[in-house]
Amino acid sequence: MHQADTLEKLMNNSGAPSTHYRPETAHKGPRVICVTSGKGGVGKTNIVVNLAYCLANMGKRVVVLDGDLNLANVDILLGITPHYNLHHVFLGEKSLRDILVQGPGGFSILPASSGILEMADLTEEQKLYFLAEMDELGEKIDILLIDTAAGINKNVIYFTLAAQERIIVLSPEPTSLTDAYAMIKVLSTRHDVKKFRILINSANSEKEALAVFRQLSMVADRFLNTLSLDYIGYIPFDARLPQAVRAQRLLTELSPQSKASLMLKKLANQLAREEQTTQQDGNIKFFWKGLLHL
Ligand SMILES: Nc1ncnc2c1ncn2[C@@H]1O[C@H](COP(=O)(O)OP(=O)(O)OP(=O)(O)O)[C@@H](O)[C@H]1O
Ligand SMILES: [Mg+2]
Repeated sequence: MHQADTLEKLMNNSGAPSTHYRPETAHKGPRVICVTSGKGGVGKTNIVVNLAYCLANMGKRVVVLDGDLNLANVDILLGITPHYNLHHVFLGEKSLRDILVQGPGGFSILPASSGILEMADLTEEQKLYFLAEMDELGEKIDILLIDTAAGINKNVIYFTLAAQERIIVLSPEPTSLTDAYAMIKVLSTRHDVKKFRILINSANSEKEALAVFRQLSMVADRFLNTLSLDYIGYIPFDARLPQAVRAQRLLTELSPQSKASLMLKKLANQLAREEQTTQQDGNIKFFWKGLLHL
């Protein structure tokens, strides 16, 4: 099944979604990047919030969506307790702007919690209101970063398919490699996703990270030769990171010169540079439509 077919099915829509780039009419829609992994605990949430912080420091307008619907990872990591979430927007009690929470360094967090799961059951009117709100927000932001739960489940697949780019995080542990491969295999064979960006976390050196990437490419190539796996870098193992987690602070804020911080900044720079050339229109709406079953 092709990716577009799958999305169309997820969206329960007869017409093809509009993803065409229309330079004359386009406002600059945000880039939607989903960070996911096969195995849990490989560092996704820390990577997302630290990237968001670095990108915001570069002047990018960034929103983080916590796609780990059960555990609200982002809130816990930053020690925040949002008072309102998407549920209040659906009830018409709050606007999206009211529920956004300010993160450190100026990025925003969109508290979704279980709200996302309710989306398919909204009335037509609620869905249209929400899309209009989202469109307005979309005009004001440059990047939507999504942190997902680990492994293959319905929500992770939604986010992964609807985003423009997917970053798969893995660590040098053998189980992380096999789980990443299993995830890539499902996304490519069942959902026709062919492009993946690979980020190795907790490596002891670049050499080790590249060796992990080569191993992944080898298994992937042997079985799925149409895939494109793009190595986008590595984050070293850094003892300061768990310390920052315990303090509910961001590593890049607390220890900006630590080795993992320097690589996170480098990666954010890389992403920010690409952003100027890969901007597309309509993706934020496309993204939410999938979740709304429109
Ligand atoms: N580069 C690193 N160096 C040292 N420790 C790290 C690094 N990256 C992650 N960790 C450790 O791994 C823990 C888990 O990280 P994190 O919560 O970001 O993973 P996750 O992939 O989001 O997990 P989950 O799948 O449960 O959502 C961190 O609390 C930290 O202790
Ligand atoms: Mg997490």
